[in-house]
Amino acid sequence: TRTQVVIVGAGPAGLFLAHLLHRQGIESVILDTRSREDIEQTIRAGVLEQWTADLMRDLGLGGRMDREAHFHSGISLQHGRERCHLDLEELTGGKRVTVYPQHEVLRDLIAGHLDHGGRILFGVQDVDLSRVTADRPQVSFRQSADAAPETLVGDFVAGCDGSQGHSRQHIEGRTEYHKLYPFGWLGILVEAPRSYHELVYARHERGFALLSTRSDTVQRMYIQCGVGEDLAAYPDERIWQELRERLATDSWQLREGRIFQKGVVGLRSFVSDRMQRGPLFIAGDAAHIVPPTGAKGLNLAVADAVYLFRGLEQHYAGQGRARLDAYTDTCLRRVWRAERFSWYMTTLLHVNPEENAFEQRIHMADLEYVTSSRAAATALAENYVGLPLDG
Ligand code: DHB
Repeated sequence: TRTQVVIVGAGPAGLFLAHLLHRQGIESVILDTRSREDIEQTIRAGVLEQWTADLMRDLGLGGRMDREAHFHSGISLQHGRERCHLDLEELTGGKRVTVYPQHEVLRDLIAGHLDHGGRILFGVQDVDLSRVTADRPQVSFRQSADAAPETLVGDFVAGCDGSQGHSRQHIEGRTEYHKLYPFGWLGILVEAPRSYHELVYARHERGFALLSTRSDTVQRMYIQCGVGEDLAAYPDERIWQELRERLATDSWQLREGRIFQKGVVGLRSFVSDRMQRGPLFIAGDAAHIVPPTGAKGLNLAVADAVYLFRGLEQHYAGQGRARLDAYTDTCLRRVWRAERFSWYMTTLLHVNPEENAFEQRIHMADLEYVTSSRAAATALAENYVGLPLDG
């Protein structure tokens, strides 16, 4: 089978790319090893930068988001019992963030793409990218375990298969930058009403805590925990105890409820300094990872998809390869800024057992600075709502 762009992975990068291409009349086929249900149910982050939400609307996909999402014009930073409001909207000239979970974004993108006649093959197996770097890139796969292998031939291949995907392995000559943090996040979903009108990021001597939300009846909360910690060590009462202590102020109370989902993730930063080889381009988590503090991961993946789309659009319009050739450089400028911000938010708000008392005290001074200086608050706010896309 022949198409123009083979997209490996139906996550944010792959699906936004397919929508942008489709709107320009460029054909693609998306392959994913996961089932549609799996993709639509996996719990991930929940914050869209202003431009990402605007892109949803621009693609005609904003309807449910505008009805069901929550628009936050500020966040709170807490240190000890002091909770301090940061007015994002006022500090950034009118930008807000949209709290709309990633799997809801994916549901809207998948339904919208199938409605347009777009092709997504879910649950495929044995995806083989070993012939993607030829002049005529080919991707072979099976539709199921007992099906015969099939081959898709395209002009380009977009590797949007996440940090565990294989596409990155085909980008030869890359240098990888890694950082592991000596702590993780334990995240819960809770049946409870909202406890506060905005997200609260707290630094406490017992560790980081984050109060977020999903809807009027479901709340999302996280606490810093050890690396690879066993969930069995965190019965519900221990989680509530930690959240109560870390988020406590003199005048506010956490609303508790039934915990119906628990998970632990490690925190790491990762960048591949090459995102292209021949006709293969990688985007999103396949090329870079940020720790979750600040919720940049999805937004960064969508930015890659926009840059790749712009290059492909120029190519198919017969206007040359300049943007495709600049793809890695264009992406990495934004990637490294998001890496810096995510690393900064992470180190600012977590208690790192490897840091000495001096270093810990510096983070407290930083928090005091951010919550008392308009210039410092503006720097945090403009990153949080999302830096503008280049060009
Ligand atoms: C959420 C996750 C984040 O990493 C963050 O910075 C804010 C909110 C969330 O899942 O709601």
